[in-house]
This record gives sequence, structure tokens and C-alpha cells, in this order.
Amino acid sequence: MGLNPGFLLFFTWPLVDVMTVDDCQEHEYWAEGGNCVACKECGAGLELSQDCGFGTGGDGQCVRCGHNRYKETWGFGKCKRCLSCSLFNRLQKSNCTALSNSVCGDCLVG
Ligand SMILES: *[C@@H]1O[C@H](CO)[C@@H](O)[C@H](O)[C@H]1NC(C)=O
Repeated sequence: MGLNPGFLLFFTWPLVDVMTVDDCQEHEYWAEGGNCVACKECGAGLELSQDCGFGTGGDGQCVRCGHNRYKETWGFGKCKRCLSCSLFNRLQKSNCTALSNSVCGDCLVG
């Protein structure tokens, strides 16, 4: 096993530069106090009004999924676009809601 250049860089990098916004994880934002803080998670049918993660965001509120969008589970995720059955030439068995995707049925005749 050779000497990893990344390993070397880690120990020679000035310590003052170590604590930057870049160090926050995927689901963390950089708070005033100088810490990475976990982003808010939103319930089903809700998403953060502002992107949060990798050091940015943090001011977002949980808001309802927009028109034609849904989110089924609690968590960090964003609302997803609802499936359009007509796009696949299928009958719509149930409409999309903020909590669930549309359900498509049989092929439309024609
Ligand atoms: C879906 O919504 C449309 C428009 O509001 C309505 O006409 C239709 O009956 C609904 N379909 C189902 C399966 O609930």
C-alpha cells in the first residue's frame, strides 16, 4: 500500500481552513454558531420551502407539496411529480394527492 496523497493533504492543510461550510453533510446546514445542524425533515405531503444541505439552507419551513406533486413518506426528500396516466395512454384509477401518486388503470381504447 503506497502513501495516499489525500491522506498527506489532510494532515498538512492549515487547521483554520478545516471548518468551512463545505464540511457540512448532505442533510446539514451551516448555523450561526459555527456548527453543522441537521436540516428539518418534513412529513408526508410536505417539503421544505428552501433547499437544505451541504451547508446551505436552514430557514426553510415545511410546506404542502405543490400542484401535481406528492410525497409519501416523512423525511428529507422533496415532493415528486405525479404520474400522468394519459401520457401512457392509460385510464386514471385515482387522482394524485399530496400524499400519494396517481394510480393508472387499463389502457385507453383507441
Ligand atoms: C380526478 O379528478 C378529476 C378532476 O377533479 C375528476 O373529474 C375525476 O373524477 C377524478 N378521478 C378520480 C378517479 O377520482
